[in-house]
Amino acid sequence: MTGVPEYVSYARMDELHELQCPRSDVRGELSFLLISQVKELLFRVVTDDLDSARTALGHDDLDGACLALARAVRSQGVLVACWESMNGMSADEFVAFRHVLDDASGVQSFAYRTLEFVLGNRPGRHARAALREGPEQVRAELAKPSLYDAALHYLDRRGFAVPVSCLRRPPNRQHEPSTGVEDVWLEIYADPRRHRGPHRLAECLLEVAYQFSRWRATHLLVVERMLGGKGGTGGTDGASWLREINEHRFFPELWTFRTRLENPERGRTP
Ligand code: HEM
Repeated sequence: MTGVPEYVSYARMDELHELQCPRSDVRGELSFLLISQVKELLFRVVTDDLDSARTALGHDDLDGACLALARAVRSQGVLVACWESMNGMSADEFVAFRHVLDDASGVQSFAYRTLEFVLGNRPGRHARAALREGPEQVRAELAKPSLYDAALHYLDRRGFAVPVSCLRRPPNRQHEPSTGVEDVWLEIYADPRRHRGPHRLAECLLEVAYQFSRWRATHLLVVERMLGGKGGTGGTDGASWLREINEHRFFPELWTFRTRLENPERGRTP
């Protein structure tokens, strides 16, 4: 075999390996850098699958949407597992190279922001920052309806009473929790045999939201383990800021309707 092997040229492995340039010789910085890069790439993998799910829903292709959501969930599992590698670093190792990060912080990741935007978390401050400084990909995302919007439109076409205000909201504006949407999920879960497809969609969406919250919760634990109560390099007060973010749930009504869910068999005369 002569020249560059196909494995190396196909995935441009040489260039890839040139991208790891630690700024210190502290043990731990290289793996911190690598895991940060792996996570950044995985954000894109998940975004891609969620985008496919959104497209499939737009074509009323429920099977295609659920397959894509299941793929996203697998990659989300890898994202969560990546934290384990980071936990091999002790706080003294981290503090020994933390200064080389300067003001670099995950809060500046446009890949992460794109992922949040696809799912439907588009608060004004992040939307404005993305429009001001973000690459084309994140700005374009704000012009599209989110995955949750696509799910609500799908349910509307299936005859469920999704409030018009949720269907007509401009895509760059944040979805606000709605009792009307909660009623729709309640109707589906009250009779899952009748609404098999929508129920399956809801379970797939919830799994995506659950895995995302798991990633956030583990990130918070890692942050407490590395920083205690120190502020973040991105200018926030660190763990307490992340604790607030942890309260957020994607597809909010899919979480809240459960409070009202009752066993339909109880109270029925035999
Ligand atoms: C020792 C490891 C880490 C520590 C101590 C840490 C700390 C923090 C802190 C304190 C914040 C709040 C913003 C700030 O002030 O900086 C933050 C945000 C963030 N971090 Fe990390 N982080 C770590 C590893 C990572 C890794 C490996 C990733 C993945 C690429 C990541 C992704 C993010 C993201 C996406 C945010 C923004 C969250 C949001 O806007 O909701 N972090 N991190």
